[in-house]
Amino acid sequence: MQNLTVRLEMVLGQVRNAANGTVRVIDVGSDHGYLAVRCLEEGIAKSAVCTEIHEGPARKSAVALKEAGFGDCSEVRVTDGLNGVPLSDNDIVVIAGMGGLNIIDIIGRALKDNGTAVMEKVVFVLQPQKSNEIVRKYLCDNGFVFIDESVCYDRDIFYNCMRVVYKGINRELSDLEACYGPLLIEKNNAGDKDVALYFDHLDEIFEIRKRSNPVVRSALEERKNNERK
Ligand SMILES: C[S@@+](CC[C@H](N)C(=O)[O-])C[C@H]1O[C@@H](n2cnc3c(N)ncnc32)[C@H](O)[C@@H]1O
Repeated sequence: MQNLTVRLEMVLGQVRNAANGTVRVIDVGSDHGYLAVRCLEEGIAKSAVCTEIHEGPARKSAVALKEAGFGDCSEVRVTDGLNGVPLSDNDIVVIAGMGGLNIIDIIGRALKDNGTAVMEKVVFVLQPQKSNEIVRKYLCDNGFVFIDESVCYDRDIFYNCMRVVYKGINRELSDLEACYGPLLIEKNNAGDKDVALYFDHLDEIFEIRKRSNPVVRSALEERKNNERK
């Protein structure tokens, strides 16, 4: 089986939980292509599409898929995000290891290109490297609903991942929920130790970021108020 980093294992876990063996996995920004290889090896997906904005990583993905014996049930496209890849029922779109603003740009275009009826049948697994609060607010302002969130600690860095689906239902997210994650807050309240460590880490970095970021400042205040109750 293809080895993955702890971070990509977390992302794969979200794909696994959403899959039923008949899905097509679309890995946007696939780089090495390892995630798609693992999805096919495990039988989580029956086919895979890797998209890459750069030719070099696209070539790496194509080689990895071919060498693993999945040349026939996969394709690699050099394209920006999901451009030229129409979505369909049962697709799982993974966008991992990218900045939040890039993720928002890719999802926004997908929403416009595919329409809401198709989007409702697609699962999105997102792992932003930064700007989580902006991604979460964007999703909730644009009809997406959170299904699950997870965290991991990989080579001295905390990462988080979210699984969302489009339902056409907008909801206002508090600054606390945007910064810490609505479902991670629930997991923390239920005593999840990994999430508690992640929140301790966020508390520390937000103490610094609060000076220049009013959303972070308000989230920290809300969190401290909740702790006092
Ligand atoms: C840091 S790597 C992450 C690779 C892999 N998804 C992971 O999580 O390990 C980000 C990759 O996304 C690609 N990328 C960045 N923006 C993209 C876009 N708009 N469309 C497709 N690929 C993109 C980059 O070329 C790079 O290979």
